[in-house]
Amino acid sequence: MFRSRTCRPSLRVFAYVVATVSVLTVIAHAQRESHQPVTSEPQKSGESKSKLDEELFKRLFAQRRKDHIEAVQTLLKMDSYERLYKMIAVLAEKVVEVIESSKNIIEKAGFLPYNSSFPEDSNVKDALSSILENTALFGDIILHLPDITHRILKTQQGWNSTIHWSLNFANQTRHLLNKSTITMLHLVEQELNITERDPSYFNPYRSAAHAGRHEDIVKKKKKSARKEKRKKGPQIAKIEL
Ligand SMILES: *[C@@H]1O[C@H](CO)[C@@H](O)[C@H](O)[C@H]1NC(C)=O
Ligand SMILES: *[C@@H]1O[C@H](CO)[C@@H](O)[C@H](O)[C@H]1NC(C)=O
Ligand SMILES: *[C@@H]1O[C@H](CO)[C@@H](O)[C@H](O)[C@H]1NC(C)=O
Ligand SMILES: *[C@@H]1O[C@H](CO)[C@@H](O)[C@H](O)[C@H]1NC(C)=O
Ligand SMILES: *[C@@H]1O[C@H](CO)[C@@H](O)[C@H](O)[C@H]1NC(C)=O
Repeated sequence: MFRSRTCRPSLRVFAYVVATVSVLTVIAHAQRESHQPVTSEPQKSGESKSKLDEELFKRLFAQRRKDHIEAVQTLLKMDSYERLYKMIAVLAEKVVEVIESSKNIIEKAGFLPYNSSFPEDSNVKDALSSILENTALFGDIILHLPDITHRILKTQQGWNSTIHWSLNFANQTRHLLNKSTITMLHLVEQELNITERDPSYFNPYRSAAHAGRHEDIVKKKKKSARKEKRKKGPQIAKIEL
């Protein structure tokens, strides 16, 4: 059976972001129910229930991070710079959209990251995980593919405040995040020059091989662009997702 080599993984990457209704909270509900002892136990107080929810949230978030790493590996394997550019541009747009709408929900609910206990309302919980998941995934993309992402972000100044907000929000909800994610987000803030770079700042995920390949592609493209100029008629770039 013939199948385009990159089509399906790309769609999978895309699905991670588009899943705005959080898998985390859905699974959390299911787990809690299945773990409920059959024998009657004294009702849990609101506070300990919220603690339990929070613990589940954290565990599942750490799990989701593994999916994100896998998604980024898929992006790194894409061999067409144009397709990759288009893919990340669309992903980034989706990320910003999802974060914006989740931000509205959280603000309407009066949720304050630094001063609220873990939310009970499932809409707020979903919004919370959407923000944190999308921020973390986008952070991974920024660090692993910095040059291409900077190029895209430069063309989209309108995204700036949302990106700032989400990183700040994640920073304020760091108690919900996995330690490796906190470290990663701190690198993202420096990569984007949101916080001043440490003198020793270094992006450990920048892939030299990938950057080199990009330059090769750009050089080749410049050459062929020159050739194509001699052709008559308009040239329409075909970019497929
Ligand atoms: C944090 O996430 C990574 C995967 O990103 C995982 O290997 C690690 O075990 C997690 N740590 C904790 C404390 O959950
Ligand atoms: C946090 O909540 C407490 C009471 O729950 C309140 O007194 C305090 O002003 C709040 N702080 C902020 C920064 O909203
Ligand atoms: C981006 O947004 C932040 C916070 O909203 C602001 O402080 C910063 O100046 C903005 N940067 C640019 C380049 O617009
Ligand atoms: C993140 O939070 C820490 C502690 O609350 C603070 O010192 C740091 O400046 C924050 N970073 C950003 C980028 O907001
Ligand atoms: C961040 O600042 C460094 C040094 O000041 C600069 O080399 C780099 O291009 C900047 N990056 C972005 C994305 O603005």
